[in-house]
Amino acid sequence: MIQFKIDDALCVRCGECAADCPAGIIAMNDIPEITNEPGCFKCLHCYAVCPTGALSILGNKPDREVSLADQLPQVEKVSNLIKWRRSIRRYKDENISPELIDELLQTACHAPTGVNACDVLFTVVRDRAFMEKLSKDIMGRIAAIEAAGNLPEGFLGQYLALVADVWKSEGRDIILRGAPHLLLTSVPKTAPCPVQDTHIALATFELSAASHGVGTLWNGLFMMALAVCPDLVEQLGIPSDHVIGYAMLFGKPAVVYHRVAKRGPAKVNYLG
Ligand SMILES: Cc1cc2nc3c(=O)[nH]c(=O)nc-3n(C[C@H](O)[C@H](O)[C@H](O)COP(=O)(O)O)c2cc1C
Repeated sequence: MIQFKIDDALCVRCGECAADCPAGIIAMNDIPEITNEPGCFKCLHCYAVCPTGALSILGNKPDREVSLADQLPQVEKVSNLIKWRRSIRRYKDENISPELIDELLQTACHAPTGVNACDVLFTVVRDRAFMEKLSKDIMGRIAAIEAAGNLPEGFLGQYLALVADVWKSEGRDIILRGAPHLLLTSVPKTAPCPVQDTHIALATFELSAASHGVGTLWNGLFMMALAVCPDLVEQLGIPSDHVIGYAMLFGKPAVVYHRVAKRGPAKVNYLG
C-alpha cells in the first residue's frame, strides 16, 4: 500500500502530480487519484512537486518536510567543487568521525537509481585498525599468489605484479594506501541497473565528501585484488547475491593541491 492521500481542502487541482508521475499512474478526476498502485516507482515526485503540500504518500507528509530550494549552493561553487576535487593517494592517519561518515552516506543514498530501485548497499570500513589488518591480508595474499607464479595473464597480472613488487621492496601498499576508510557499493544481481546505480552512488558520495574536505580515491586496484581473492567478498560481509560496483578509499587528505589541473576542452558531438 502506498498510502496515497490528497487533502481536498489544500489541493488546487493543478495536475502537476499527474503530469510529473514517471509511471503515469495518477489521473486527475477532480482531485488526483492513483490508477495502478503496483506501478508506483516510489520516487516521490508527486509529493515533491505538489505546490500546496496537499499530497501525502508512503508515510511522507508535507507538513513534516522542508524545502531545500533556498539553501542550495551558488552555481560557481558547485562547479568549483567539481574542478577542485582530486584523487587522494595520501591520507592522514586518523579516522573520520562515524557521524560524518553517516552523514555522507545519508546524502549519497539520494543518488538516482534505475526504476528508483534504491537498493545500493554501502559497505564501509569505519576504523583504520580494520584497514591495517585488511592491508596485511591482501598484500600477503597477492605476494603469495605472485611468488607461486599464479597471477593471471595480461593487464590484471601486470598490475598485481607491480603491487606485489612495491609491497616486497618498500613495504608499501599501493592498493589501500594507508587510507583510514574503504567504501564498496553493491546491489542485488537482479537490480535493473546494477553498474550505473553503484557508480552513481560513489560519484555522489565523492562530491559530498569533497564538500567536507574529505578525500577519495576510486580504487581499480582493489577491484583487481577482489578478482584474485574472491573470498574477500564474503569476508567483507557483502551478500552473496550482490554484484559489487566499485571500491573507493576515503579519509582526511595528507596533501594539499594549490591549483586546479586544467582539463578539456570537453570532447563534444553537438547535434542541431
Ligand atoms: C574507475 C577508476 C578507477 C581508478 N583506480 C585507481 C587505482 O586503482 N589507483 C589509483 O591510484 N588511482 C585510481 N584512479 C584514479 C585515477 O587515476 C584519477 O582519477 C586520474 O588520474 C585523474 O586524477 P584526478 O582524479 O585527481 O582528477 C581511478 C579512477 C577511476 C575513475
